[in-house]
Amino acid sequence: MADLSTNCGGIKSPNPFWLASAPPSNSAYQNCKAFEQGWGGTVWKTIGEPVMNVCNRYGSLDVNGMKIAGLNNIELISDRHIDINFKEIAETKKLWPDRAVIVSLMVESKKETWQDLVKRTIDTGCDGIELNYGCPHGMSERGMGAAVGQVPEYCSMITEWVTEVSTVPVIVKLTPNVTDIRYPARAAKKANANAISLINTINSIIGIDLDTLEIKPSVAGKGGHGGYAGPAVKPIALHMLSQVARDSKVDLPVSGIGGINNWRDATEFLLLGASSVQVCTAVMHHGFRIVEDMIDGLNNWMDEKGFKTLNDVIGKSLHRIDDFGNFNLLHKTTAHIDQDKCIHCNLCYIACEDGAHQCIDLTEENGHNKTVVREEDCVGCDLCSIVCPVEGCISMVRKDDGSEQKTWNELLLQFKDEGKELTWENLAEFQKQHGIVIH
Ligand SMILES: Cc1cc2nc3c(=O)[nH]c(=O)nc-3n(C[C@H](O)[C@H](O)[C@H](O)COP(=O)(O)O)c2cc1C
Ligand code: SF4
Ligand code: SF4
Repeated sequence: MADLSTNCGGIKSPNPFWLASAPPSNSAYQNCKAFEQGWGGTVWKTIGEPVMNVCNRYGSLDVNGMKIAGLNNIELISDRHIDINFKEIAETKKLWPDRAVIVSLMVESKKETWQDLVKRTIDTGCDGIELNYGCPHGMSERGMGAAVGQVPEYCSMITEWVTEVSTVPVIVKLTPNVTDIRYPARAAKKANANAISLINTINSIIGIDLDTLEIKPSVAGKGGHGGYAGPAVKPIALHMLSQVARDSKVDLPVSGIGGINNWRDATEFLLLGASSVQVCTAVMHHGFRIVEDMIDGLNNWMDEKGFKTLNDVIGKSLHRIDDFGNFNLLHKTTAHIDQDKCIHCNLCYIACEDGAHQCIDLTEENGHNKTVVREEDCVGCDLCSIVCPVEGCISMVRKDDGSEQKTWNELLLQFKDEGKELTWENLAEFQKQHGIVIH
């Protein structure tokens, strides 16, 4: 069995699976139950300012029968009395010394208020602190949450107040509601944060009820923007993780969050550099028990791949991320249809005909439709294989032998050396030399 233990910015846990700061980590009852089921750590539901919630609070994006492909919420931070939270955090940590108990914090932007809160939090015996600079609704209107995370100067100012007095590791949790996540991440680094976590929820309006014309979720007829989470946000979270993990000016461990539903999702975050992962929506949907599959799945995969420790996995795919200008223009694939697997639904034909390059021919054979790719015209876009409902029926077959390589950046240099401008004619000449035909 592989060793799943991890150390994220000085916070150790027996496995990388942590509850994200959210409804599942709201109380001692829930956190202890989660630990019993195997979760390696928890980030306690954010505590700090006095707040009151409203109902309804959640809205779901259901896609073709899939419940909660995305989850929208207008919930605030913990609405339980702060003293109750402190008492329960201390009790939980005492009962579970080997698990990571991290406390998420958010208060108004005053040095004394932040430092008092940090000291009281450390007194609970917790393993770390997470600064919630991400809440995009409600709290941000009061100058907290995303209102801090969106301004790198505020981000570093408050982090500095915290790191000045904290004796436990400090994680800064970032909002994705920015144009470039690296700037607040660098600000956190400058202020001596020990780690970054990302992403918090994305600003969104989940939908409108076509019967009542009310915004969802409706609070007595009124609605507004909320935070978006769940499976639909995973690609955005992976991208932001990769940006921060590749940035030498950040150079901090990252706890990955956003749309993690199973061990495969979690492993993708690890491969892009996360040293722990946090989960909210999937637990709200399926319960704490999902961690059992996450642990088993990651363990089996690591054994299969020969990875012995989590450090063998963390960041393993990061070097593969590159800029478009460094991709090989001469790499060539075309679609191939396995006629034995085809169920003649014609979806690939329609997609290629209307949405791609009109290079699947629809013919008839033995009384049913037959779809055949005209290879010479296929641009290898992959659309047909994505829409095909039969696993393995359409595959993208490599046509180049890998011996030739020319990236866009290299091509521009070549043109420069040859005294050529970047014109359509010169590009066409290069394509002709390499048998590339564009229709
Ligand atoms: C209902 C709800 C409440 C949340 N409350 C908090 C919170 O109090 N503090 C915080 O840092 N993040 C909060 N989050 C954000 C989550 O911790 C997490 O960053 C986000 O949901 C993305 O992860 P997921 O896709 O696994 O849900 C909340 C999310 C949801 C859905
Ligand atoms: S890969 Fe793209 S261009 Fe080629 S057959 Fe499929 S949809 Fe058409
Ligand atoms: S989408 Fe797949 S199953 Fe449907 S016709 Fe095309 S190849 Fe056959």
